[in-house]
Amino acid sequence: MNSFARFLIFAGLILSLAATASVYAEEPENFSSDAAQGTGEPPTVPHKIPDGATSESCLGCHKTGTNGAMETSHPERLDCTQCHVQGEVSAPAIPHKVRGAIAAKTCNKCHLTGIKGAPKTKHPERTQCGQCHERAKQA
Ligand code: HEC
Ligand code: HEC
Ligand code: HEC
Ligand code: HEC
Repeated sequence: MNSFARFLIFAGLILSLAATASVYAEEPENFSSDAAQGTGEPPTVPHKIPDGATSESCLGCHKTGTNGAMETSHPERLDCTQCHVQGEVSAPAIPHKVRGAIAAKTCNKCHLTGIKGAPKTKHPERTQCGQCHERAKQA
């Protein structure tokens, strides 16, 4: 690569950085304009919302799409539960005893491959099992 080409790439990088910075600089904290940005109904939350959840904890999964979460199109709208309310959690309860904490490492020993008669999970990427699957009430 000659030095002129290198200069062009560098200049392009600076320009795009400057453009991004100005977009952020123009954004005031305007919650009513945030609310007006939505084009549809906010979907309800299909998993548990733990006590003390914050927008940071929601974005922990939804910003980049970790743990099988879908990426949010609006990470800048911070008060998540202002719009997204608790929906029905339709995941089946755990029908067997669980020794200790509900942790993917334990659960997937059987459910990843389906050994010991366990139904094979269709979502191995969702690692917070207890977010959706509750312990069945033991009689
Ligand atoms: C540990 C990861 C994780 C965290 C933390 C998390 N979510 Fe989710 N969220 C998921 C997964 C996985 C799904 C997909 C569930 C499904 O498809 O059944 C989901 C689905 C959703 C949906 C449904 C979107 C749609 O298009 O139907 C909403 C809304 C949502 N989450 C909001 C939140 C909010 C608000 C918080 C914070 C209180 C939060 N989530 C925290 C993993 C997470
Ligand atoms: C002002 C209302 C509002 C706030 C605040 C808000 N959302 Fe949403 N969200 C919506 C609407 C409306 C939709 C449906 C799609 C659309 O029209 O943008 C949506 C869709 C989603 C989806 C489905 C994927 C997508 O982007 O379409 C996820 C995941 C989600 N929101 C997560 C979050 C998280 C996490 C937060 C907080 C960090 C949050 N939302 C804050 C209104 C809101
Ligand atoms: C030793 C193997 C084993 C381990 C470890 C295990 N399971 Fe299971 N799981 C099973 C078997 C076998 C079944 C079949 C139904 C039964 O036991 O009644 C089952 C059934 C289930 C079901 C019901 C599925 C349905 O379609 O109704 C859920 C949900 C579940 N397990 C979740 C978990 C979670 C979450 C963990 C971790 C805390 C876990 N399991 C750990 C073997 C295991
Ligand atoms: C974000 C919610 C959510 C998380 C997290 C989650 N599940 Fe599920 N799971 C569901 C739902 C909902 C179903 C019912 C079937 C469906 O809609 O996919 C289900 C079904 C299952 C089943 C029955 C077989 C199947 O796939 O239909 C098993 C086994 C299971 N989950 C195991 C697990 C294990 C093990 C973990 C953690 C490593 C886990 N799940 C994490 C929501 C979740």
